[in-house]
Amino acid sequence: MLITAVYPGTFDPITYGHSDIAQRAANMFDHVIFAVADSPHTNKRPVFTLAERVALAQTVFHPYDNIKVKSFSGLLINFAKKNKARIIIRGLRAVSDFEYEFQLAGMNRSLMPDIETVFLPTSPQYTYLSSTLAKEVARLGGNVQPFVHPCVYAALLAKMQANRQ
Ligand code: COA
Repeated sequence: MLITAVYPGTFDPITYGHSDIAQRAANMFDHVIFAVADSPHTNKRPVFTLAERVALAQTVFHPYDNIKVKSFSGLLINFAKKNKARIIIRGLRAVSDFEYEFQLAGMNRSLMPDIETVFLPTSPQYTYLSSTLAKEVARLGGNVQPFVHPCVYAALLAKMQANRQ
């Protein structure tokens, strides 16, 4: 049986930390859906629109046959069910991520018991990376090229330029 895994997040924008997790998941499962959340939790206000976040991820994963980018809104487990995915992928960067991730996995499992969450440790060079930090470094003129795909770098520069005007 072919196994589909969903890797969800806000991805505002996608960084090498995210693509590293998705690519490693793609080596473990038959299909990976890179699921870009429309309605991010609580107080997150994405800088990139949903369409922009999806388009950037599509460019990043263009070379990967078994990674598909989709957007979703509402409950993750409903999206997973609709796409016949039994696995949710989450990246763990540090111990501080664990408590929240454990809660999320527990809640998802209680809502849909046949869904499993698989945690992948983030590669060491990305443990301190977040989308917020990438945006902040770009906004303040720092070099984010080591952390994001060239298309994301260009989009960040364009977004920062537009916001300055
Ligand atoms: N490398 C680099 N950065 C990483 C990373 C990695 N491997 N893993 C996580 N991050 C960063 C993200 O970029 C994000 O940065 P930011 O806060 O600066 O934007 C931060 O860590 C948190 O990421 P994450 O925990 O994935 O949060 P998220 O907002 O991106 O995604 C959802 C959360 C969308 C998966 C979750 O809210 C959800 O499932 N929502 C759907 C509604 C639902 O089902 N709710 C009930 C859940 S029980």
